[in-house]
Amino acid sequence: MIPTKRLHVITWGCQMNVYDSGRMADVLAPLGYGPTSEPDGADMVILNTCHIRDKASEKVFSELGRLRLLKEASGNRMVLAVAGCVAQAEGAEILARAPYVDIVLGPQTYHRLPEMVARAARAGNKVIETDFPPEDKFDHLPDSATPQGVTAFLTIQEGCDKFCSFCVVPYTRGAEQSRSAAAILREAAHLVGQGAREITLLGQNVNAWHGEAPDGSIWGLGRLLRELADVPDLLRLRYATSHPRDMTDDLIGAHRDIPALMPFLHLPVQSGSDRILAAMNRKHTADDFRRIVDRLRDARPGLALSSDFIVGHPGETEADFEATMTLVRDIGFAMAYSFKYSSRPGTPAAGAPGQVSEAGKDQRLQALQALLRDQQTAFNAGCTGLDLPVLFTGPGRHPGQIAGRSPFLQPVHLSGNASLIGTEAMVRIVANHPNSLAGTLVQERRSA
Ligand code: 5AD
Ligand code: SF4
Repeated sequence: MIPTKRLHVITWGCQMNVYDSGRMADVLAPLGYGPTSEPDGADMVILNTCHIRDKASEKVFSELGRLRLLKEASGNRMVLAVAGCVAQAEGAEILARAPYVDIVLGPQTYHRLPEMVARAARAGNKVIETDFPPEDKFDHLPDSATPQGVTAFLTIQEGCDKFCSFCVVPYTRGAEQSRSAAAILREAAHLVGQGAREITLLGQNVNAWHGEAPDGSIWGLGRLLRELADVPDLLRLRYATSHPRDMTDDLIGAHRDIPALMPFLHLPVQSGSDRILAAMNRKHTADDFRRIVDRLRDARPGLALSSDFIVGHPGETEADFEATMTLVRDIGFAMAYSFKYSSRPGTPAAGAPGQVSEAGKDQRLQALQALLRDQQTAFNAGCTGLDLPVLFTGPGRHPGQIAGRSPFLQPVHLSGNASLIGTEAMVRIVANHPNSLAGTLVQERRSA
């Protein structure tokens, strides 16, 4: 269908939101909406929001203030929608404080967007949909219309039942839900048909996935990965984000058995102190995490790790923070994300005693980030001189260059022909930068 209306989607937050934004564009395509890169002049703007850390709603209201001007400039024709986790958590407040917003929708309802747009089109109508509907939104979504490219995301699981003390996700995304294996395999084949060669399976707790198998039994993620590895032309598999408690034997075994499963795992640990891990309701110790990593590295030698850390959770002492630093030194991360604890309304940690001062959090974050940065630099430096398989994903920054990804998710730049895009080849890494690598194509040796 040729687009007759322009849709601009602004995406904040996690990879799940990136995927959701794509799917919202897919459901609106049959109504004639096609993507535009600028909000100015768009017929519809969707702001897909994130609630995970500080100042989420202030950020939303300041962006809405900017969009309001564009909407007024359009003679109020522009349809303005707020989606995602801030919409879920603060839907009514958004409509009260920003009455020029037309539609507020939570992450579970975007399959109903066409109907919401029709309702909003009746003058003066405001639409708010933040319930958790009984039907499964995935059953009501069309196949994705717009190819995601060589690397694609596929949501297999949503929601979280873990209730970590600090986290809003169980409230904004609701209880854990797994899509069926058949639906996932179908979508994977569709993505590969559109040119995807690497698929990252997404879920708030992706390794808790337990979906219905085609024979009616229940599979875990390890089994699903084994099936996906058989999809023709699918070269690489990844999954994010995981919880240490759901690293089952079968899933660890999948890292041993499946060459397409990349040797790089994002496994958030949050803290290295058992006291704080208990206060966080993580239900594992720092040593449990060390043992899981040992088993993963036994299963897949050379496996690299990334993680998430929070400094300054209520009750965290200097000694607790030192335990985190020790854990980081013990494990050695290829990269990691670290955050200052940010109090989220309605979560157990928000009212807990022992809140850490801002200055204290700043100091700890700086120390942790310096250590993590050193580890990342060392990891990247260790790649120089190696031949790594690189999946070419697109053109590079300069003419004659292409860009790709290493198994460890590092961006790799090299001279090469655009015809290589979508293929994988060995690249000799010749230089390392803080966040990327440079290489040269290893010519295949021809036999005489
Ligand atoms: N404060 C700081 N960081 C948080 N995260 C989640 N909630 C909070 C919070 N309230 C971090 C965790 C999680 C990542 C996605 O965001 O480290 O793994
Ligand atoms: Fe949040 Fe914990 Fe669930 Fe992750 S596991 S989404 S941090 S509650």
